Amino acid sequence: MAIDHLSRRAMLGALASLPALSGLGALAGTREEFNAGLSKNPHLLGLANAKMESFDSGMKKLRGHLPSGLEGVLWRNGPAEHERFGDRYTHWFDGDGMVQAYTLSGDRVTHRARILDTPKRRRETREGRRYIPAFGTAGSGPMSGPDDMNVANTSMLFHAGQLLALWEGGSALEVDPETLGAGKFKAWHPELSGLPFSAHPRVEKDGTLWNTGAIFFPQEALLIYRIHQNGTIVKANLLDVGPMGIVHDFVVTSRHIVVLLTPLVIDPDLWSDRDVSFLDAHVWRPAYGTRVLTIDKNQLEIVRRHELPPGFHFHHGNGWEEADGTIHLDVCQAPGPEFVTRDMREVMCGQLNFSSAHPRYSSIVLPPRSGAEINVLAPGPVEFPRIDSRRTGQRHRMVFALTGDEVDGKWPFNRVIRIDPELGETDGWTYPGHQIPEEHVFVPAGPAEGEGWLLGPYLDVRRKATGLNVFNARHVSAGPLWEGILPYFIPLGLHGTFAAL
Ligand SMILES: [Fe+2]
Repeated sequence: MAIDHLSRRAMLGALASLPALSGLGALAGTREEFNAGLSKNPHLLGLANAKMESFDSGMKKLRGHLPSGLEGVLWRNGPAEHERFGDRYTHWFDGDGMVQAYTLSGDRVTHRARILDTPKRRRETREGRRYIPAFGTAGSGPMSGPDDMNVANTSMLFHAGQLLALWEGGSALEVDPETLGAGKFKAWHPELSGLPFSAHPRVEKDGTLWNTGAIFFPQEALLIYRIHQNGTIVKANLLDVGPMGIVHDFVVTSRHIVVLLTPLVIDPDLWSDRDVSFLDAHVWRPAYGTRVLTIDKNQLEIVRRHELPPGFHFHHGNGWEEADGTIHLDVCQAPGPEFVTRDMREVMCGQLNFSSAHPRYSSIVLPPRSGAEINVLAPGPVEFPRIDSRRTGQRHRMVFALTGDEVDGKWPFNRVIRIDPELGETDGWTYPGHQIPEEHVFVPAGPAEGEGWLLGPYLDVRRKATGLNVFNARHVSAGPLWEGILPYFIPLGLHGTFAAL
């Protein structure tokens, strides 16, 4: 394994140079504000605290039959402890992670959920207070590295027989697949210990895994990982990319890794302010445009650069490339970052506004030499895109995602859709108004793209319970083949992954 370009010393500096942060002023009153908002708008239940640290139950069938052959586990992750010791976080992405396992076997679905007891959470438990800084909430140090604030709350990865809880800013956390208990932080190599391993790795059909990690100190640098199907690291490289902020997702093609750097970048002066959270240390610099980095998969070096108009991209669908080197990718693009920097704060304070311009599903074309273009594919807001993962890095015609009616004051996503990246929306099913759909994960059955099922968890705010729908992925508009409900609710989660039994 080789770590190239920037020195090990620079990477150690990334850990040692994190400033100690302090200041809890921004937290005052938000718990009361949230409860007042929840009493008026039941859709805010998704941002309430989990009622317990662990849950175990069977699912009660509401309708239909589980398809024969659908056997396995859907692991999901998301922030679930939004409040501890009376303090409420001020951003949706801050709370301690809760991992869930929906186990589908025979004609039954069982559910297990556990709060991940990370080193950060154990420190706060010992001290009896919530004080460590989070993604969008300022706090106090001292901090020896990113994992001191790692809440492991964003996604799950099952690779080479190992289950990992992922967060964007630090290491992956090992999780016991049976008990869902938290283990130790994963070190892919001693020299990579404690460095960020982001929450949206791309795994190709042969099991090769690619990932990024955004490092901000002592300077911005993008870490690229190539991991073998057997779970060992093949190569890593640290790239000097200039001004950089959140790098949440990326795509791979047959020959390249493609990363979009949005104009939302860290301002080092703001980050040194003791009362500013990591998110609030970002500034919007539209003059930077959107810088597109194309990285060679063998060398892990930047080989092409393109520029697009300024936009904010959180989640990507997939990428692929033609024989002449033309690269295609599809992404959720908003004109600015406000749905993350403002809307997802307001919901934590009991305000369900979602008044920002939401992401539109968009197609990007990068010709081999110069020029680049982006076009909107679907008219409404689109988020949580997932593909048939067997098509990772190859031309695809199916993306499964959430959309909605975009009514002010309502949760923006109430419909699951299938998008053809060349035609737009081609199929969909609308949830009842008292249900909030979460990310829907594709599970393959037959050999063709999209031949399989969609597993769709949802929050029923009327029942105050979490449910699960199973769709035929090629006939989403026919509605669920099977639907089950839990006797409790889990706060709205973020991402998940499925593994066959
Ligand atoms: Fe994400």
